[in-house]
Amino acid sequence: MNKIRSYIKGVGHNVPDRVVTNDELSKLMDTTDQWIVERTGIKERRFADEGVGPSDLAIPAVENALQDANLSKDDIDLIIFATISSDYYIPGAGCILQDKMGFGNIGAFDIKTSCAGFIYGISMADQYIKSGTFDNILLVCSEVQSTTMDLSDRGRNTAVIFGDGAGAIVLSSTTEDRGILSTHLHSDGKNVKELWLKEPSTKSSNRLSKESIERGDHFLFMNGREVFRHAVKRFPETINESLEFNGLTSEDIDLLVPHQANLRISDMIQKKMGLPDNKVFNNIQKYGNTTAASIPICLSEAKKEGRINNNDLVVCAAFGAGFLWGSTVIKW
Ligand code: COA
Repeated sequence: MNKIRSYIKGVGHNVPDRVVTNDELSKLMDTTDQWIVERTGIKERRFADEGVGPSDLAIPAVENALQDANLSKDDIDLIIFATISSDYYIPGAGCILQDKMGFGNIGAFDIKTSCAGFIYGISMADQYIKSGTFDNILLVCSEVQSTTMDLSDRGRNTAVIFGDGAGAIVLSSTTEDRGILSTHLHSDGKNVKELWLKEPSTKSSNRLSKESIERGDHFLFMNGREVFRHAVKRFPETINESLEFNGLTSEDIDLLVPHQANLRISDMIQKKMGLPDNKVFNNIQKYGNTTAASIPICLSEAKKEGRINNNDLVVCAAFGAGFLWGSTVIKW
């Protein structure tokens, strides 16, 4: 009997309606459309309305993914929710989604693996399926980062980059020769403070003090130059290791989907991998960096646009806070 593999049976996404242009940001902070486009490629991003959390944004994405997979809620065995902006500090967004969408009492848990959330999530889901534990797993990646942004001059190097959005996939079992061929995961915790959200912290009995709010410790902080320097090294490194692992070269790639960190980073990866424009998918221009959600949003759009078809070789790679990075090779 052929061994069990996992494959992406369905994919969907959802972004908030509210478009925030670079010009709108330039009314809140000292920045310009030209600076943002030149340094990041971003033209606009989406911000969720007040009161909307990642679990809410995820619902239409999950509905789309289930429809695309031709499955119902009852077919799902497990929910993995990748987010670093969970609705509440406790509990995780996975069980909030389970309740809101009326899933049965299946397992639901969050993973907090920043922009690498999709890669880490698919790696876990793949293991559950290959081991025969579950047949259909929902991997949800959803973020509301807009409320973690300091939308003033002080936060301008970070605030112009991030946006809100959700993507979801259904990973299912198959005995066909297709699906997830490999996943590679890495971390380097030396760089925690280069991209972090410090407060509220359990290390302080105050949790969130007046002083820490004044310092802006409750906003996401990013050392852009350090992040950039590491990202342009780690992306090609992990893409190459995953290709080598599978005995492939960059010429075998039908579509590369890099986490949407910055268009300049994507362009550098494309150049290093020697890929033509039609083999790399980017949508950061319209959504900014949506952290864990960026890769599944890209996959969903790419599939709808006919840029991913059955048997295509799709490579996804991500880099983010931690630092964490990794890649996956998928025979669609
Ligand atoms: N608008 C206008 N000027 C800005 C600005 C903004 N939004 N943000 C920073 N600046 C200014 C700085 O204050 C600095 O001014 P100075 O020269 O007078 O001191 C100048 O622009 C250059 O700042 P610097 O931080 O060196 O810019 P950069 O070329 O490194 O670009 C980033 C900044 C954030 C765009 C870039 O570092 C980057 O993209 N990093 C990676 C980010 C990323 O991918 N994050 C996601 C990880 S998953």
